[in-house]
Amino acid sequence: MLSIEKYQDQFIAYLQDYSVIKEPKNLYEPIDYILGLGGKRLRPVLTLMTADIFNGDYKKALHAALSVEVFHNFSLVHDDIMDDAPLRRGQQTVHEKWDVNTGILSGDAMLIMAYQLFENYDATTFQALAKLFSKTALEVCEGQQYDVDFETRNNVTIPEYLKMIEYKTAVLVGAAMKMGAIVADASEDDQYNIYEFGKNLGIAFQLQDDYLDAFGDPKTFGKQVGGDIIENKKTYLYLKALEFSNDADKVELSELFASDPEDISTKIEVAKQFFVTSGSAEATKTAIKNYTNKAFTVLQSLHISEDKKQLLKTFGNNLMNRTV
Ligand code: IPE
Ligand code: IPE
Ligand code: MG
Ligand code: MG
Ligand code: MG
Repeated sequence: MLSIEKYQDQFIAYLQDYSVIKEPKNLYEPIDYILGLGGKRLRPVLTLMTADIFNGDYKKALHAALSVEVFHNFSLVHDDIMDDAPLRRGQQTVHEKWDVNTGILSGDAMLIMAYQLFENYDATTFQALAKLFSKTALEVCEGQQYDVDFETRNNVTIPEYLKMIEYKTAVLVGAAMKMGAIVADASEDDQYNIYEFGKNLGIAFQLQDDYLDAFGDPKTFGKQVGGDIIENKKTYLYLKALEFSNDADKVELSELFASDPEDISTKIEVAKQFFVTSGSAEATKTAIKNYTNKAFTVLQSLHISEDKKQLLKTFGNNLMNRTV
Protein backbone atom coordinates (compact mmCIF):
# COMPACT_ATOMS: atom_id res chain seq x y z
CA MET A 1 0.00 0.00 0.00
CA LEU A 2 1.07 3.59 -0.65
CA SER A 3 0.27 6.76 1.28
CA ILE A 4 -2.66 8.90 0.10
CA GLU A 5 -0.16 11.50 -1.18
CA LYS A 6 1.65 8.86 -3.24
CA TYR A 7 -1.58 7.69 -4.89
CA GLN A 8 -2.31 11.34 -5.62
CA ASP A 9 1.14 11.82 -7.15
CA GLN A 10 0.79 8.71 -9.30
CA PHE A 11 -2.61 9.86 -10.45
CA ILE A 12 -1.45 13.39 -11.29
CA ALA A 13 1.52 12.05 -13.27
CA TYR A 14 -0.85 9.91 -15.31
CA LEU A 15 -3.26 12.83 -15.77
CA GLN A 16 -0.46 15.05 -17.05
CA ASP A 17 0.46 12.45 -19.67
CA TYR A 18 -3.16 12.23 -20.71
CA SER A 19 -3.85 15.98 -21.04
CA VAL A 20 -3.02 17.31 -24.48
CA ILE A 21 -4.77 20.32 -25.94
CA LYS A 22 -5.85 19.37 -29.44
CA GLU A 23 -7.85 21.34 -32.00
CA PRO A 24 -10.35 22.85 -31.70
CA LYS A 25 -8.80 24.67 -28.75
CA ASN A 26 -12.13 26.01 -27.51
CA LEU A 27 -13.26 22.43 -26.91
CA TYR A 28 -10.11 21.07 -25.27
CA GLU A 29 -8.72 24.06 -23.36
CA PRO A 30 -11.64 24.20 -20.90
CA ILE A 31 -11.17 20.46 -20.27
CA ASP A 32 -7.51 20.95 -19.53
CA TYR A 33 -8.40 23.96 -17.38
CA ILE A 34 -10.92 22.23 -15.14
CA LEU A 35 -8.87 19.02 -14.78
CA GLY A 36 -5.80 21.13 -13.97
CA LEU A 37 -7.53 23.15 -11.26
CA GLY A 38 -6.86 20.33 -8.85
CA GLY A 39 -9.43 19.56 -6.27
CA LYS A 40 -9.01 16.86 -3.68
CA ARG A 41 -8.72 13.97 -6.19
CA LEU A 42 -10.75 11.99 -3.72
CA ARG A 43 -12.42 9.59 -6.15
CA PRO A 44 -9.36 8.54 -8.19
CA VAL A 45 -7.37 8.02 -4.99
CA LEU A 46 -10.16 5.75 -3.75
CA THR A 47 -10.07 3.75 -6.99
CA LEU A 48 -6.30 3.23 -6.76
CA MET A 49 -6.37 2.50 -3.05
CA THR A 50 -9.18 -0.03 -3.45
CA ALA A 51 -7.36 -1.87 -6.23
CA ASP A 52 -4.37 -2.13 -3.88
CA ILE A 53 -6.51 -3.19 -0.93
CA PHE A 54 -7.80 -6.16 -2.92
CA ASN A 55 -4.26 -7.12 -3.93
CA GLY A 56 -4.52 -5.80 -7.47
CA ASP A 57 -1.94 -3.69 -9.28
CA TYR A 58 -2.97 -0.11 -8.59
CA LYS A 59 -1.22 0.98 -11.80
CA LYS A 60 -3.71 -1.10 -13.75
CA ALA A 61 -6.45 0.94 -12.09
CA LEU A 62 -5.08 4.29 -13.30
CA HIS A 63 -7.34 4.35 -16.39
CA ALA A 64 -10.43 3.66 -14.30
CA ALA A 65 -9.32 6.26 -11.73
CA LEU A 66 -8.93 8.84 -14.47
CA SER A 67 -12.28 7.89 -15.94
CA VAL A 68 -13.96 8.58 -12.61
CA GLU A 69 -12.17 11.92 -12.21
CA VAL A 70 -12.96 13.03 -15.78
CA PHE A 71 -16.61 12.10 -15.23
CA HIS A 72 -16.63 13.95 -11.90
CA ASN A 73 -15.18 17.05 -13.56
CA PHE A 74 -17.70 16.81 -16.39
CA SER A 75 -20.47 16.75 -13.80
CA LEU A 76 -18.99 19.83 -12.09
CA VAL A 77 -18.84 21.83 -15.33
CA HIS A 78 -22.51 21.16 -15.99
CA ASP A 79 -23.44 21.49 -12.30
CA ASP A 80 -21.87 24.96 -12.17
CA ILE A 81 -24.00 26.03 -15.12
CA MET A 82 -27.12 24.61 -13.45
CA ASP A 83 -26.26 26.19 -10.06
CA ASP A 84 -25.16 29.49 -11.59
CA ALA A 85 -21.88 29.16 -9.70
CA PRO A 86 -19.11 31.71 -10.29
CA LEU A 87 -16.27 29.91 -8.50
CA ARG A 88 -14.78 26.44 -8.56
CA ARG A 89 -11.60 25.49 -6.69
CA GLY A 90 -10.93 29.17 -6.09
CA GLN A 91 -11.03 30.03 -9.80
CA GLN A 92 -13.62 31.06 -12.35
CA THR A 93 -16.01 28.31 -13.41
CA VAL A 94 -15.78 27.17 -17.04
CA HIS A 95 -18.99 28.90 -18.13
CA GLU A 96 -17.79 32.17 -16.53
CA LYS A 97 -14.33 32.02 -18.06
CA TRP A 98 -15.66 30.97 -21.47
CA ASP A 99 -19.44 30.80 -21.87
CA VAL A 100 -22.37 28.44 -21.28
CA ASN A 101 -22.18 26.80 -24.71
CA THR A 102 -18.51 26.03 -24.16
CA GLY A 103 -19.34 24.48 -20.80
CA ILE A 104 -22.02 22.32 -22.35
CA LEU A 105 -19.91 20.96 -25.20
CA SER A 106 -16.62 20.55 -23.32
CA GLY A 107 -18.64 18.77 -20.64
CA ASP A 108 -20.21 16.45 -23.22
CA ALA A 109 -16.75 15.63 -24.59
CA MET A 110 -15.51 14.80 -21.10
CA LEU A 111 -18.35 12.37 -20.54
CA ILE A 112 -17.30 10.54 -23.71
CA MET A 113 -13.63 10.65 -22.77
CA ALA A 114 -14.48 9.11 -19.41
CA TYR A 115 -16.17 6.19 -21.13
CA GLN A 116 -13.39 5.87 -23.70
CA LEU A 117 -10.81 5.25 -20.99
CA PHE A 118 -12.29 1.79 -20.41
CA GLU A 119 -10.91 0.77 -23.82
CA ASN A 120 -7.65 0.22 -21.97
CA TYR A 121 -9.08 -2.96 -20.41
CA ASP A 122 -9.72 -6.47 -21.71
CA ALA A 123 -13.26 -7.38 -22.74
CA THR A 124 -14.42 -8.83 -19.41
CA THR A 125 -13.14 -5.95 -17.30
CA PHE A 126 -14.36 -3.45 -19.90
CA GLN A 127 -17.85 -4.81 -19.69
CA ALA A 128 -17.97 -4.80 -15.91
CA LEU A 129 -16.63 -1.23 -15.72
CA ALA A 130 -18.86 0.09 -18.50
CA LYS A 131 -21.93 -1.46 -16.93
CA LEU A 132 -21.22 0.09 -13.55
CA PHE A 133 -20.32 3.41 -15.16
CA SER A 134 -23.53 3.65 -17.20
CA LYS A 135 -25.73 2.83 -14.22
CA THR A 136 -23.89 5.32 -12.02
CA ALA A 137 -23.85 8.12 -14.59
CA LEU A 138 -27.60 7.83 -15.13
CA GLU A 139 -28.20 7.91 -11.38
CA VAL A 140 -26.08 11.07 -11.13
CA CYS A 141 -28.34 12.68 -13.76
CA GLU A 142 -31.41 11.58 -11.79
CA GLY A 143 -29.95 13.05 -8.59
CA GLN A 144 -29.11 16.31 -10.34
CA GLN A 145 -32.66 16.57 -11.68
CA TYR A 146 -34.14 16.02 -8.21
CA ASP A 147 -31.76 18.67 -6.85
CA VAL A 148 -33.06 21.19 -9.39
CA ASP A 149 -36.71 20.13 -8.93
CA PHE A 150 -36.39 20.62 -5.17
CA GLU A 151 -35.34 24.28 -5.60
CA THR A 152 -38.91 25.20 -6.46
CA ARG A 153 -40.69 22.74 -4.15
CA ASN A 154 -41.59 23.59 -0.55
CA ASN A 155 -42.56 20.11 0.64
CA VAL A 156 -39.30 18.19 0.21
CA THR A 157 -38.85 15.49 2.86
CA ILE A 158 -35.64 14.25 4.50
CA PRO A 159 -35.92 10.80 2.84
CA GLU A 160 -36.30 12.53 -0.54
CA TYR A 161 -33.26 14.67 0.17
CA LEU A 162 -31.22 11.62 1.22
CA LYS A 163 -32.18 9.79 -1.98
CA MET A 164 -31.22 12.86 -4.00
CA ILE A 165 -27.72 13.11 -2.49
CA GLU A 166 -27.24 9.37 -2.73
CA TYR A 167 -27.80 9.67 -6.47
CA LYS A 168 -26.06 12.92 -7.29
CA THR A 169 -22.95 12.24 -5.19
CA ALA A 170 -22.72 9.03 -3.19
CA VAL A 171 -23.11 6.45 -5.96
CA LEU A 172 -20.04 7.85 -7.72
CA VAL A 173 -17.93 7.46 -4.59
CA GLY A 174 -19.20 3.88 -4.29
CA ALA A 175 -18.54 3.26 -7.98
CA ALA A 176 -15.01 4.73 -7.76
CA MET A 177 -14.18 2.12 -5.14
CA LYS A 178 -15.99 -0.72 -6.87
CA MET A 179 -14.03 0.00 -10.04
CA GLY A 180 -10.81 -0.51 -8.11
CA ALA A 181 -12.24 -3.80 -6.83
CA ILE A 182 -13.24 -4.86 -10.37
CA VAL A 183 -9.77 -4.17 -11.75
CA ALA A 184 -8.31 -6.17 -8.85
CA ASP A 185 -10.69 -9.08 -9.54
CA ALA A 186 -12.13 -8.96 -6.03
CA SER A 187 -14.99 -11.34 -5.16
CA GLU A 188 -18.61 -10.28 -5.88
CA ASP A 189 -19.15 -10.05 -2.15
CA ASP A 190 -16.26 -7.68 -1.60
CA GLN A 191 -17.25 -5.64 -4.66
CA TYR A 192 -20.72 -5.20 -3.24
CA ASN A 193 -19.54 -4.27 0.23
CA ILE A 194 -16.87 -1.81 -0.87
CA TYR A 195 -19.56 -0.09 -2.97
CA GLU A 196 -21.78 0.17 0.11
CA PHE A 197 -18.88 1.54 2.13
CA GLY A 198 -18.21 4.20 -0.51
CA LYS A 199 -21.88 5.04 -0.86
CA ASN A 200 -22.34 5.72 2.85
CA LEU A 201 -19.13 7.70 2.96
CA GLY A 202 -20.46 9.61 -0.06
CA ILE A 203 -23.68 10.51 1.74
CA ALA A 204 -21.63 11.84 4.67
CA PHE A 205 -19.47 13.68 2.14
CA GLN A 206 -22.42 15.48 0.53
CA LEU A 207 -23.90 16.38 3.93
CA GLN A 208 -20.53 17.90 4.76
CA ASP A 209 -20.47 19.70 1.40
CA ASP A 210 -23.85 21.23 2.23
CA TYR A 211 -22.60 22.23 5.69
CA LEU A 212 -19.47 23.86 4.25
CA ASP A 213 -21.49 25.63 1.59
CA ALA A 214 -23.06 27.66 4.41
CA PHE A 215 -20.35 27.62 7.08
CA GLY A 216 -17.09 27.19 5.14
CA ASP A 217 -14.36 29.82 5.20
CA PRO A 218 -14.59 31.87 1.97
CA LYS A 219 -10.78 32.18 1.97
CA THR A 220 -10.21 28.44 1.67
CA PHE A 221 -13.50 26.87 0.54
CA GLY A 222 -12.97 27.57 -3.18
CA LYS A 223 -16.67 27.96 -3.95
CA GLN A 224 -19.11 30.81 -3.36
CA VAL A 225 -20.10 30.50 0.30
CA GLY A 226 -23.89 30.64 0.58
CA GLY A 227 -24.41 29.44 -2.99
CA ASP A 228 -26.97 26.84 -1.88
CA ILE A 229 -28.91 29.48 0.06
CA ILE A 230 -28.98 31.84 -2.92
CA GLU A 231 -30.25 28.99 -5.12
CA ASN A 232 -32.91 27.85 -2.59
CA LYS A 233 -31.36 24.39 -2.26
CA LYS A 234 -33.35 22.17 0.05
CA THR A 235 -30.39 20.84 1.98
CA TYR A 236 -30.35 18.92 5.25
CA LEU A 237 -29.54 22.20 7.01
CA TYR A 238 -32.70 23.74 5.64
CA LEU A 239 -34.98 20.73 6.11
CA LYS A 240 -33.90 20.18 9.71
CA ALA A 241 -34.22 23.91 10.50
CA LEU A 242 -37.77 23.74 9.20
CA GLU A 243 -38.49 20.65 11.29
CA PHE A 244 -37.11 22.26 14.46
CA SER A 245 -38.89 25.61 14.02
CA ASN A 246 -42.17 26.92 15.42
CA ASP A 247 -44.99 27.78 13.02
CA ALA A 248 -44.05 31.44 12.59
CA ASP A 249 -40.40 30.59 11.84
CA LYS A 250 -41.48 27.81 9.50
CA VAL A 251 -43.36 30.36 7.40
CA GLU A 252 -40.48 32.84 7.42
CA LEU A 253 -37.90 30.19 6.55
CA SER A 254 -39.89 28.63 3.73
CA GLU A 255 -40.62 32.07 2.27
CA LEU A 256 -36.92 32.92 2.46
CA PHE A 257 -36.17 29.73 0.50
CA ALA A 258 -38.67 30.59 -2.21
CA SER A 259 -37.24 34.10 -2.70
CA ASP A 260 -34.76 35.64 -5.10
CA PRO A 261 -33.82 38.96 -3.49
CA GLU A 262 -31.34 41.57 -4.75
CA ASP A 263 -29.65 41.60 -1.37
CA ILE A 264 -28.09 38.15 -1.22
CA SER A 265 -25.83 38.81 1.77
CA THR A 266 -28.82 39.49 4.03
CA LYS A 267 -30.54 36.35 2.75
CA ILE A 268 -27.42 34.31 3.52
CA GLU A 269 -27.04 35.81 7.00
CA VAL A 270 -30.69 35.24 7.91
CA ALA A 271 -30.61 31.65 6.65
CA LYS A 272 -27.42 30.86 8.56
CA GLN A 273 -28.93 32.29 11.74
CA PHE A 274 -31.88 29.95 11.32
CA PHE A 275 -29.50 27.02 10.82
CA VAL A 276 -27.59 27.82 14.01
CA THR A 277 -30.42 28.80 16.35
CA SER A 278 -32.74 25.99 15.29
CA GLY A 279 -30.07 23.38 15.96
CA SER A 280 -29.97 22.18 12.36
CA ALA A 281 -26.26 22.97 12.00
CA GLU A 282 -25.53 20.62 14.91
CA ALA A 283 -27.99 18.02 13.60
CA THR A 284 -26.13 18.07 10.27
CA LYS A 285 -22.81 17.44 12.00
CA THR A 286 -24.39 14.50 13.80
CA ALA A 287 -25.76 13.10 10.55
CA ILE A 288 -22.28 13.35 8.98
CA LYS A 289 -20.87 11.31 11.87
CA ASN A 290 -23.70 8.78 11.65
CA TYR A 291 -23.25 8.10 7.94
CA THR A 292 -19.50 7.87 8.37
CA ASN A 293 -20.03 5.32 11.14
CA LYS A 294 -22.51 3.45 8.96
CA ALA A 295 -19.76 3.17 6.36
CA PHE A 296 -17.38 1.86 9.03
CA THR A 297 -19.88 -0.85 10.00
CA VAL A 298 -19.81 -2.16 6.43
CA LEU A 299 -16.03 -2.61 6.74
CA GLN A 300 -16.62 -5.57 9.07
CA SER A 301 -17.92 -7.70 6.21
CA LEU A 302 -14.89 -7.12 3.94
CA HIS A 303 -12.39 -9.95 3.48
CA ILE A 304 -9.32 -7.79 4.06
CA SER A 305 -6.79 -7.38 6.87
CA GLU A 306 -7.43 -5.20 9.91
CA ASP A 307 -4.63 -2.87 8.77
CA LYS A 308 -6.45 -2.18 5.56
CA LYS A 309 -9.74 -1.59 7.32
CA GLN A 310 -7.93 0.88 9.55
CA LEU A 311 -6.61 2.69 6.48
CA LEU A 312 -10.13 3.10 5.12
CA LYS A 313 -11.30 4.31 8.51
CA THR A 314 -8.57 6.92 8.68
CA PHE A 315 -9.56 8.07 5.21
CA GLY A 316 -13.19 8.42 6.29
CA ASN A 317 -12.29 10.28 9.47
CA ASN A 318 -10.07 12.69 7.56
CA LEU A 319 -12.92 13.42 5.15
CA MET A 320 -15.15 14.31 8.08
CA ASN A 321 -12.66 16.90 9.28
CA ARG A 322 -12.11 18.58 5.94
CA THR A 323 -12.60 22.31 5.38
CA VAL A 324 -12.47 22.22 1.56
C1 IPE B 1 -17.69 18.49 -5.37
O1 IPE B 1 -16.88 17.38 -5.19
C2 IPE B 1 -19.05 18.02 -5.77
C3 IPE B 1 -19.70 17.21 -4.77
C4 IPE B 1 -20.12 16.03 -5.01
C5 IPE B 1 -19.93 17.74 -3.43
P1 IPE B 1 -15.46 17.50 -4.49
O2 IPE B 1 -15.60 18.23 -3.19
O3 IPE B 1 -14.82 16.16 -4.46
O4 IPE B 1 -14.68 18.45 -5.50
P2 IPE B 1 -13.13 18.54 -5.84
O5 IPE B 1 -12.89 17.60 -6.96
O6 IPE B 1 -12.34 18.21 -4.63
O7 IPE B 1 -12.94 19.97 -6.26
C1 IPE C 1 -22.83 18.40 -6.94
O1 IPE C 1 -23.56 18.85 -5.88
C2 IPE C 1 -23.14 17.02 -7.42
C3 IPE C 1 -22.63 16.84 -8.78
C4 IPE C 1 -21.78 17.63 -9.35
C5 IPE C 1 -23.11 15.70 -9.52
P1 IPE C 1 -23.28 20.36 -5.51
O2 IPE C 1 -23.93 21.29 -6.48
O3 IPE C 1 -23.58 20.55 -4.07
O4 IPE C 1 -21.69 20.46 -5.71
P2 IPE C 1 -20.85 21.78 -5.53
O5 IPE C 1 -21.14 22.31 -4.16
O6 IPE C 1 -21.26 22.72 -6.61
O7 IPE C 1 -19.42 21.31 -5.66
MG1 MG D 1 -23.12 23.03 -7.39
MG1 MG E 1 -25.61 21.23 -7.75
MG1 MG F 1 -22.45 21.83 -2.76
